[in-house]
Amino acid sequence: MAKPDRKTTDRVKALREELHRHNYLYYVLDQPEVSDAEYDRLLDELTALEKQFPELVTPDSPTQRVGAPPLEEFRTVRHSLPMLSLGKATSEPEFLDFHRRVVELSGEGKISYVVEPKFDGLAVEVVYTEGFFSLGSTRGDGTLGEEVTLNLKTIKSVPLRLRGKEVPERIEVRGEVIMNKEDFATLNKEREKAGEPLFANPRNAAAGSVRQLDSKVTATRPLTLFAHGTGVISGKERSNHWDTLAYLKRLGFKVSEDIALCTRVEQVKRYYEETLDRRDRFPHEIDGIVIKVNDFGLQRRLGEISRSPRWAVAWKFPAQQENTVVKDIVVSVGRTGALTPVAILEPVRVAGVEVSRATLHNEDEVRKKDIRIGDTVVIQRAGDVIPEVVKVIETKRTGREKPFVMPDLCPVCGSRVERPEGEAVHRCTGLACPAQIKENLAHFAAKGAMDIDGLGYKFLEQMVDKGIIRDQADLYTLKKENLMKMDRMGDKLAQNLLDAIDRSRKPALANLIYALGIRNVGEHLATVLARNFKSVDNLAAKTVEDLTQVHEIGPIVAESIYNFFHNPKNLTVLEKLKKGGVVFPEEETELKETSLTGKTFVLTGGLDSMTRDEARKIIETSGGRVSSSVSKKTDFVVVGKDPGSKYAEAQRLGVKTLSEAEFKKMIGK
Ligand code: IVH
Repeated sequence: MAKPDRKTTDRVKALREELHRHNYLYYVLDQPEVSDAEYDRLLDELTALEKQFPELVTPDSPTQRVGAPPLEEFRTVRHSLPMLSLGKATSEPEFLDFHRRVVELSGEGKISYVVEPKFDGLAVEVVYTEGFFSLGSTRGDGTLGEEVTLNLKTIKSVPLRLRGKEVPERIEVRGEVIMNKEDFATLNKEREKAGEPLFANPRNAAAGSVRQLDSKVTATRPLTLFAHGTGVISGKERSNHWDTLAYLKRLGFKVSEDIALCTRVEQVKRYYEETLDRRDRFPHEIDGIVIKVNDFGLQRRLGEISRSPRWAVAWKFPAQQENTVVKDIVVSVGRTGALTPVAILEPVRVAGVEVSRATLHNEDEVRKKDIRIGDTVVIQRAGDVIPEVVKVIETKRTGREKPFVMPDLCPVCGSRVERPEGEAVHRCTGLACPAQIKENLAHFAAKGAMDIDGLGYKFLEQMVDKGIIRDQADLYTLKKENLMKMDRMGDKLAQNLLDAIDRSRKPALANLIYALGIRNVGEHLATVLARNFKSVDNLAAKTVEDLTQVHEIGPIVAESIYNFFHNPKNLTVLEKLKKGGVVFPEEETELKETSLTGKTFVLTGGLDSMTRDEARKIIETSGGRVSSSVSKKTDFVVVGKDPGSKYAEAQRLGVKTLSEAEFKKMIGK
């Protein structure tokens, strides 16, 4: 076989360097410089050259991430330093107890803590010898783990070779392998299609993917390693955890962007609140925060007790899943006529809120999960998302459970129920179905829409039932005497309602578009439509084709918008609204190039003159974007009262910060 010439050897080396760099930019920094196609082209070139000259293959070559022949079993690895677990706190007093102990044992009044998200994944250790990845293992029982070198090698955020000028002779790095929520959902969908058993959650999916005898399978799984500590390091050790994390970053590891250094307990509390608040906006699951004493000297003095360090604690978030019993399954009718089965539950607290109902989405979902009346189920509540049933606990079945049947007739108006071809939902065919009308009205009057203060569902329900109004536009011709027909209505309350209705006559364009209740058009899309089409009339005149020209508007949304404005009933309501004195705003035709256009903002702390939601809207209607976490790509961080860790992060990264006054000036208020 021919020997590679100098030129080929150099090219292989250059390709390897180039691919390492792009890999790092993409998987560790999330800042790719080249397209996927360009990356693939380089990788293909390298693969071809290595195939031609196998002696050029090195263990750290980017081509070596594809997995190897399956193992018979895992080898056991003894960790040189035990991988400890964390004591936990489940409430503020418990965290304060931890802090008090640290203060007492250390005899120091001022403690610096590093706070980090607690990743819900699989703990692993990766060892580098002479800068090369040489051994990977799971945490196991803390002392003995399983060797999973080949599997970890397939994870793109695991460096095959360390970067920079401070590479030690040997280093043990610890971290968490996670799978993003979206990737988890996709993986489960694929498994379902293939008839394979589903993973219960992203943590199980990550663990199952790493603890795989066939590393070729691991290679197909979208996993990420977040480094959060070290074991033994040869040579000079850093003196604290914060510097160690920065060091790990320089070596090429992915370290959370959401860490902060706190010198006061109030800061830790705020970090907890903020992180809990943003929990659902993280791409991966987090189940709490981890608080670590920063100084290594102090860590050593505090030591450990029963396998948990006294210098760290996990302050857990409230569980998002609980078990309860399905007492009944009822059907609710939404504003588009969709019939949604709803589980009536034995009330239970989930993530701090009492839950007594959970959506079952549609009939197929009920069938697929085989949810029956009387079943004990796992329910989940994530952030603002409506609680849902995750699965049935089949071992709790008694045999007396009753299956659910979708009714043939609308439970509200008695019209025929239809399941349109190709759709998962059943719909009520009654055009005058009061349930649809009520839901539509409630949507119309809600915050973010016409924002009619005090006009809640109960009032609207009565108005429809008593025949006082039939559609949204009727609100604007209401007289006090009409309102007085309602139960428990007084003169003052009636006047307040009329005043609130009157105040809603001048909506912002985005609010008005949202209020119309066009299927698939939520608050964000309404803003996008307002920005692009400038008036309701203009929007109404667009074809499906015109609509899909707008970034973010796909064919389904375009279709719903088009259909909405070609439904005679809706056109009548629009005319009636105008006659009723609702002003249909026209936005300036030229998209103002403002100082906000194309800029990314992060909001932290409370603002005096507006809510965060209002600030977000202003930014978005001016062509800016609001992001939930600070990165180098952030243009401005708006700092309100009692800012949290994002403020510190902005300063650390040198991102420009704006006071409320500066922000208001920028938006021209
Ligand atoms: S530090 C002594 N930091 O939680 C320090 N652990 O209950 C122990 N975990 O096995 C680890 N996120 O798998 C640390 N930011 C984080 C973490 C974290 C998740 C896991 C880790 C560990 C378990 C301890």
